[in-house]
Amino acid sequence: MTKVLLVGQDKGGVGKTLISRGLAEVIPGAPLIEVDSSQRMLELGKRVQFFHTRANRETIERTGGAAARAEFDPLIDAIASATLPTVIDIGANTSASLLPVIADLITDFVEAGIEFGVLVVTTAEPGALAWVPKLLATAELFAATRFVIENRVEGEIDPKVLQKISAGATVTCLMNQIMDEQAALILQAGGLASIAKLDHKALLKKFGIARGCRIRRDLTRVRLDVMQSVHLVAEWLVA
Ligand SMILES: Nc1ncnc2c1ncn2[C@@H]1O[C@H](COP(=O)(O)OP(=O)(O)OP(=O)(O)O)[C@@H](O)[C@H]1O
Ligand SMILES: [Mg+2]
Repeated sequence: MTKVLLVGQDKGGVGKTLISRGLAEVIPGAPLIEVDSSQRMLELGKRVQFFHTRANRETIERTGGAAARAEFDPLIDAIASATLPTVIDIGANTSASLLPVIADLITDFVEAGIEFGVLVVTTAEPGALAWVPKLLATAELFAATRFVIENRVEGEIDPKVLQKISAGATVTCLMNQIMDEQAALILQAGGLASIAKLDHKALLKKFGIARGCRIRRDLTRVRLDVMQSVHLVAEWLVA
């Protein structure tokens, strides 16, 4: 069986792409699929196959059920033909409609040799938390292995609440990453993949020893923390 991991959460900006990038760092051989209204993981070049979805949920609903479902056809075909452990970063407003489509087709996916895992990313923001049990309930229909990453970028989630909404899933945590403004810009521009290739001398020349070193330290720590948060997920993917 070929393992395919769906990284989802309908709420935008919770860290799905950052976490997918972490998986790309931990499993250098894994191809990625990005489903979004615009392409983000440009730094990964040909490792990423991009599928466009409309950003606006209302536009999608207005086109009616049939058209909305046909929108995923090229993506579904690409998933069915995966031959290596693959990470799928599902952009905002899309998981809740994509997961049921996959659930409907699960018998055919199994026949095609595909085994799914689902990773739901959440912050403490109520809008994000509310999606967790809903997405996990759909995931349970077709994925025996489910993960939740608590991204503490908006603060810590009450452990009791987290335990309740994540029932049946393996939970890990990503700390809020405090970083220099310039480090954040470098991360935004080049993703995690750019960090290992940073030109240390050029950084020191541009920002001085103190700040240049801080930028590098911040970025190195961010990369390791994100990689640590996906460690168990990666173990499942490559097992
Ligand atoms: N734990 C964290 N600490 C600091 N910054 C973070 C953390 N998690 C995410 N971010 C930052 O928040 C921003 C949004 O993250 P990201 O793009 O990964 O979210 P997303 O869920 O993929 O968004 P979208 O729904 O638009 O696809 C990025 O700039 C990212 O680097
Ligand atoms: Mg994203």
